[in-house]
This record gives sequence, structure tokens and C-alpha cells, in this order.
Amino acid sequence: MRIGVPRETQPGERRVALVPDVVARLAGSGFEALVERGAGARASFQDAEFETAGARLVDDAFDAEAVVKVRKPTEDEIARLREGQVLVGFLEPLTDPDGIAQLASRGVNAFAMESIPRITRAQPMDALSSQSTVGGYKAALLAAERLPKFFPMLMTAAGTVPPAKVLVLGAGVAGLQAIATARRLGAVVTGFDVRAVVKEQIESLGATFLDLGVHGEETAGGYARELSEEEQRRQQEALADRIPDYDVVITTALVPGRPAPLLIPAAAVRAMRPGSVIVDLAAEAGGNCELTEPDAEVERDGVVIVGFTNLPSTMPAHASQLYARNVAALLQHLAPDGELVLDWDDEITATACVTRVKETV
Ligand code: NAI
Repeated sequence: MRIGVPRETQPGERRVALVPDVVARLAGSGFEALVERGAGARASFQDAEFETAGARLVDDAFDAEAVVKVRKPTEDEIARLREGQVLVGFLEPLTDPDGIAQLASRGVNAFAMESIPRITRAQPMDALSSQSTVGGYKAALLAAERLPKFFPMLMTAAGTVPPAKVLVLGAGVAGLQAIATARRLGAVVTGFDVRAVVKEQIESLGATFLDLGVHGEETAGGYARELSEEEQRRQQEALADRIPDYDVVITTALVPGRPAPLLIPAAAVRAMRPGSVIVDLAAEAGGNCELTEPDAEVERDGVVIVGFTNLPSTMPAHASQLYARNVAALLQHLAPDGELVLDWDDEITATACVTRVKETV
């Protein structure tokens, strides 16, 4: 099976869907990678490395049985897809119904990385987790870099410096990684989530669980249910009381397919000490902080609020490497030995597929 790897075209996107060592691994199991010239350059993978790994360098990576991307295709790219072709990427099935309808009209067999079920068998394909890991790590570093204080406690000849206090809201994959990273940097860390099951995970990282008395449920997929208006109000009030105690707040709270829950109203930002930092990883879904501006860093009442939406792209080498492994695991699942076998009775294949060619239905 020939797999096309185009250069990503979304502004600011530096990742690439396959990296040389994954290309080499796939070559051993019946796949040939057709990599667009320069596709990996912004993630620090050179064309020559792809060639050495067994890839063919091409000008048109859409001329292949499967096309693997990081971000959803643009309209121009959709126009280059053909019926029966496999497409893999973050296709935004819950938030971009028009894009999905366009893919459907092209008769593409499209697999969204977001839709891969979170079951044990599918863990190697779980790109939401791999990219959230990068995002959570980077969020802690951004906060440490912007805070006008040390993260660790220091005992120096000039006296003792107390450690920074970091609060992480939402302790899914990104939140737990942010907690772990802030801990490694020496901060005193507190974590909060509406899913009570994460209490032990937060504590196992050496952080404290903040109990606000607001407990949501976990859905069958392991995600949080959206809180009712009354629960949200109680949560905001309880958080507003606590937030001024912290130097840094990293927020990661998301509910799939819904706007991000509002956890930090403007009044809570005003109550924080000047110099404090908020990193809002939910910025793309509207933000957990009322004052977050997506894709920007702003200062409000002396508080720095970072709302960058694509942190994985700021660490493109490892983000691409992990993503490429997820993609390869999915390709090997869809095409064992390099031959496409779409088994619609299989949970992973059926759930991840967001549009499919008509004859195979
Ligand atoms: P996510 O990115 O959808 O959400 C991030 C976090 O925000 C979640 O922990 C969620 O509970 C929390 N949240 C939502 N509303 C909130 C609110 N109002 N206040 C505070 N926190 C709020 O979640 P993510 O990181 O994708 O993980 C969701 C779950 O999936 C986790 O339980 C994770 O352990 C599980 N998971 C399971 C996998 C598997 O079995 N293969 C793989 C990866 C994750």
C-alpha cells in the first residue's frame, strides 16, 4: 500500500504525519511512503532521512492509496482526494460537520484520530493522548518561563525562596502531564477535576487534590459529562475563592464536542496577584478563562494569560514522532500486511471512520 505524506499547510503547523524511523518500520510490513519534498523540514526531519528510511520523495503526496495528515485537509486538498482513498488525520468530526460532509461527497474512507475509541486495544493509536502529553508538558514550561519567580524552593546564602504554587484544572492526559512537569520543576502543585476518579492519579504524582465538593460523572468513554448550569456556578464560585492563592493556573478542562467549561471568570483573574500566570490549554474550544484570547498572550490586571492553541506544534519533533507511531498503528490495523481490509464489524475501524466510500457500506 502506498501512503502519501503531504506537507502540512495549516498556518503555523510544524508537525508531519510520518517520521523516518516509522517509515522504515512500515516499509517492513508492506507499506511504501511517498513523502512530499520538505514535508518534515519544520519538524527537523530532512528529506534525505526519509529517503534513507525507504521513502520515495514526491511532489504530489495525494497520488497514493492512503493519505496521512496531521490537520484536516483544506478545501484545495479535499479536491485532490479521490473516491475510495483512505485519509487519516485530526479531521475534527465533532466541530467541523461541513468539512466531514465535503469528505463524504468525495467518497473518501476517512478516519479521524479523535474518533479512535479509548479502549485498551487502541491505545497505541491514541493520538489525542500523545499530543495532549506534549501540550501538558509545554504548558508547564510556558508558565515557568513567564512567572517572575522560581518554581522550586531554593535555599541560598541570600535567604530561602519559597516554591511556586501551581493549580492545574482538569486532570486528563494533558493536566496530569502538566502536574508531573511542574512537580519536576519543583513547584507545589494542586490538581482538580470533576471526575473524582482522578484524585488518586493526582496524588500519585506528588500533588494535592483540590476538593471543591463539585463532582461530575464520567461517561462510558472515560470523558467528563458537561456540568449543569447550577453545578457550573457552584464550581466557579468555589474556584474563585481558591485561585488567588496560586502563582500559576494551568487549565485543561474539556468536554468533547462542547465549548470548554468556564472555570475562571474575569473577577477571579482580577483577584490574582500581579505577575501570576494562566496557561489556558482549552483556548481552542473557547477557553476555561473568560479573558483568554485564542492564539494570543495577553496581560489583564497584571496577570499573563497564554491562550496558544497548538502547543504540540511548538515541539514538532517529538510530537510528530509520537503521532507517526499512532498513525502507523492505525494503518497496520486497517491494512495488515499492507493490504487494505476494512472490517466494519471491528470497533476501532467502525468508530474511527467518519466517512466511507459507498460500495463498501
Ligand atoms: P479531555 O481532554 O476531554 O478533558 C480534560 C479533562 O478535563 C478531563 O479529565 C475532564 O474530566 C476534565 N473536565 C471536564 N469538565 C471539567 C470541569 N468543569 N472542571 C474540571 N475539569 C473538567 O480528557 P482527556 O485528557 O482526553 O482524557 C479523558 C479520559 O480518558 C481520562 O479519564 C483518561 O484517563 C481517559 N483515557 C483513556 C485511555 C484509554 O483507555 N485508552 C487513553 C487516554 C485517556
